[in-house]
Amino acid sequence: MLDLETKVHDESRQGEAYAPAVTGTQTYTKKFYIESYGCAMNFNDSEIVASILGQEGYGPTRNAEEASLILLNTCSIREKAEQTVRKRLTEFKKLKRETPGMLVGVLGCMAERIKGKLLEEEKLVDLVVGPDAYRSLPALIAEAETGQKSVNVLLSREETYGDISPVRLDNNGVTSFVSIMRGCNNMCTFCVVPFTRGRERSRDAYSIVREARELFDNGYREVTLLGQNVDSYYWTSTDGSETITFAMLLEKVAQIDPLLRVRFSTSHPKDITDEVLFIMQRYENICNYIHLPVQSGSSRILQLMNRTYTREWYMKKVDRIKELLPDCGLSTDIICGFCTETEEDHQDTLSLMKYAQYDLAYMYFYSERPGTLAERRYDDDIPEEVKKRRLAEVVELHRKHSQAGMEREIGKTFKVLVEGTSKRSDEQLFGRNDQNKVIVFPKENFKKGDYVMVKVESCTSGTLLGKAIQ
Ligand code: SAH
Ligand code: SF4
Ligand code: F3S
Repeated sequence: MLDLETKVHDESRQGEAYAPAVTGTQTYTKKFYIESYGCAMNFNDSEIVASILGQEGYGPTRNAEEASLILLNTCSIREKAEQTVRKRLTEFKKLKRETPGMLVGVLGCMAERIKGKLLEEEKLVDLVVGPDAYRSLPALIAEAETGQKSVNVLLSREETYGDISPVRLDNNGVTSFVSIMRGCNNMCTFCVVPFTRGRERSRDAYSIVREARELFDNGYREVTLLGQNVDSYYWTSTDGSETITFAMLLEKVAQIDPLLRVRFSTSHPKDITDEVLFIMQRYENICNYIHLPVQSGSSRILQLMNRTYTREWYMKKVDRIKELLPDCGLSTDIICGFCTETEEDHQDTLSLMKYAQYDLAYMYFYSERPGTLAERRYDDDIPEEVKKRRLAEVVELHRKHSQAGMEREIGKTFKVLVEGTSKRSDEQLFGRNDQNKVIVFPKENFKKGDYVMVKVESCTSGTLLGKAIQ
C-alpha cells in the first residue's frame, strides 16, 4: 500500500536520519554516532548533545561502526515515528554484539514518553535520556560504562541550554537553526508534545542574539528561530527590568546584519500578532514566509482539538497576513480523520485549503497517542481506510495548489540565497527565495552563501528553474 504519511512528510523528517560530519580540528579520544528523528528542534538538540559530549572527549562520526556510543534522538508525534526508531534499534543489535563496550542510548521524546520501560522493552538500550536531561549525559554514560543501565527523564521548568554553543552537525555552512524556547503549554488534544517536552520556557534573548551573530560571523547567512509556538516567546531578565516579546526578538535578530536572513517556525494561529507582521514588513531580511498550521477546516473539529480558534478566525488571520505582506508564502499542517470527523468536516478542510492556497503543507492522518487528552476523552472512531482516503484527497488538492503556486512564479525574479550544489547536476546551484521556494540555476561564478537575483523560467512540482540576471 502507498504510504502517504511517509510520502508527504518533510518538515518533521521522520525516518530521515542524519549522522554528523566530523567538524573542527579538535582531537577526540572517543567517537559517538547520532541519528535524529522528528522536528527541527530535535535536530538542534542533537547539536547541543554534540557540544556536551565534545567536552567529554567524544567526537562525532558518520560511521556507526567506529563509534563507542550510538544515540538515537527520537520522536513520538505519531505511532509510525516510534515504530521507525524501534526498527532502527533492532538493526543496531548485531553491531552492538560485535563491538565490546559499545553503548546505545535513546534520547528525546520517545525516551520521555516511555521512560525506564524502554530498557525492558529494548534490551540493547543502555541509556534513556529525556530532552531536558542532556547535561547529565556524561554522568549517565559513566554509570552505563560500569554495566549499570541509566535513566534521566526529569523535565525542567527552566532548562533552555541557552549557554551551550551547539556543534553544527551535517550543516551546509549557510543556514542554521536557533532554538528560542522549549516545551509547549497549549494542550492540543491530539498532541504528545506537552508531555514529552514539558512546560513552555523562553531562552535568554541575549544568548539567542549572540548565537545568531556568531553564526553570521562564521559565514552563515540564514537563521531559523525555532519553537513549538514562537509567538508566545516571552522572556524577562533576571532583575525583571526588561521583557522581550517575539516581535522584539525578531527585530533584534534582524538588526544583526541586513545580509543575515531570518526565518521562524512554528506560529500558532491564535498567537501570531500584528506586531510580528509589522516587523516582517519593516525588515527586508525577515523572510516573507509563515508556517501557520490549521490542522482542520471545521470549527467543530478545531474545538475538539482545543486549537482555540474557529475556521472564520483562521481565515481572517490569512486575510490579515495577505493584506500586510501580499507576497508572503504560507504553509500549514493538516490532520485527517480526527475523532468524529464527518465527510462534511472533511469538506470544510478542503474548502479552507482552497481559501488559503498553501504553498506547502504537511499532511497526516490522525494517530492516537497514549496519554493525550484525545486518547482519554474521545474514541479514535474513523476507520483507517477512511482516514487514508481523506488524506489522499487533501494531498491531491494541495498538489494542485502548490503546482499552480509554482507556475505563478514563472517570469518573476527573486533574490536567492545559495545553499549548495544541486543534487541533479554539479553545474547547477540551488537556494531558496524569501518565500522558501527552492530555485535551481546554472552555477556560473556563484558560490554557496551568495545572494543572487534569479529569473524563473520554468518549474517542476517542487522546484523553480531559472537563470541568474546581472
Ligand atoms: N507546534 C506545532 C506543531 C508541532 S507537531 C503547532 O502547534 O502547529 C507537528 C504537526 O504534527 C502538527 O502540526 C500536527 O499536524 C501533527 N500531529 C501532531 N500530533 C499528531 C497526531 N497525534 N496524529 C497526527 N498528526 C499529528
Ligand atoms: Fe502540540 Fe498544540 Fe503544542 Fe503544537 S501547539 S506542540 S500541536 S500542543
Ligand atoms: Fe517529535 Fe518531539 Fe518534535 S514528539 S515532533 S521530536 S517535539
